[in-house]
Amino acid sequence: MTAFDTEDDILPRAGVIGWPVDHSRSPKLHGFWLAQYGLSGRYDRLPVPPEEVGAFLEALPKEPGFRGVNVTIPNKVAVLPYLAEIDPVARRIGAVNTIVVREDGSLHGSNTDAFGFLASLRADAPKMWRAANGPAVVLGAGGASRAIIVALLDAGVPELRLTNRSRDKAEALAVEFGNRIQVVDWEKRAGALAGANLLVNTTSLGMGSQPVLDLPLNDLPATALVNDIVYTPLETDLLAAAQARGNPVVDGLGMLLHQGRPGFEAWFGVAPEVTPELRAAVLA
Ligand code: ATR
Repeated sequence: MTAFDTEDDILPRAGVIGWPVDHSRSPKLHGFWLAQYGLSGRYDRLPVPPEEVGAFLEALPKEPGFRGVNVTIPNKVAVLPYLAEIDPVARRIGAVNTIVVREDGSLHGSNTDAFGFLASLRADAPKMWRAANGPAVVLGAGGASRAIIVALLDAGVPELRLTNRSRDKAEALAVEFGNRIQVVDWEKRAGALAGANLLVNTTSLGMGSQPVLDLPLNDLPATALVNDIVYTPLETDLLAAAQARGNPVVDGLGMLLHQGRPGFEAWFGVAPEVTPELRAAVLA
């Protein structure tokens, strides 16, 4: 049994490569859209360990029907050497989450996380947030943080305050991404909220069995938008505390849903929508 096994190989196909990949919600997301738009096609979980990424991608263009794949943990960096072209945003993020097989069989890589992040803020909090209106505070300096930093800098934030438990990682990002990034000690994170226009948690704190995020919000302006990219649970302690004091909030599910849009359109030819029904289906 290989990742390519299929009973009907003429349908347009895509999938998600990860290791393990059982947890991925992408099949629910793309499966919902395929049904919603009445498209015959399929989207599968494709278990591919990082050491097999090269062989998988070399075989991909020869597989009948395959239009491309999403890439998830731990393969987002491992795929880079096998792509004929990598879009500039993905290069800056340093990771690819969407691959399209082009007509000549070559592979194009992009990263739709930055798009998904901004699209989710714009869809779920219309008129509540303008990047240029003030500083953004970003908690965390991992892979998700890189995509969000690129998104916020491109959207025009005047200042980005970055705080991370391991300060060296935040400092490396400040060196890489330029002088609009101010690094704040993790111990001083509550003070970084003064005058902020946006607060984003990109750490795993507050997710499932992880510790909760300890962050007093007293200094955060009441108009600041608060976003948590954690979506299990959907309402994290951070979002509950922000909402209780009247701040507008956006949960983490929107970023997951919106980041899937460009891939679906490229593979299946329809620009999909994010609806309440989709949210419910992906959470189920
Ligand atoms: P992702 O790709 O989702 O960003 P990651 O690259 O593993 O995941 O990054 C996890 C982030 O959560 C990091 O910023 C990490 O901080 P460190 O760089 O100091 O490890 C942060 N994080 C995880 N557990 C944490 C904890 N208990 N306290 C503070 N930060 C934590």
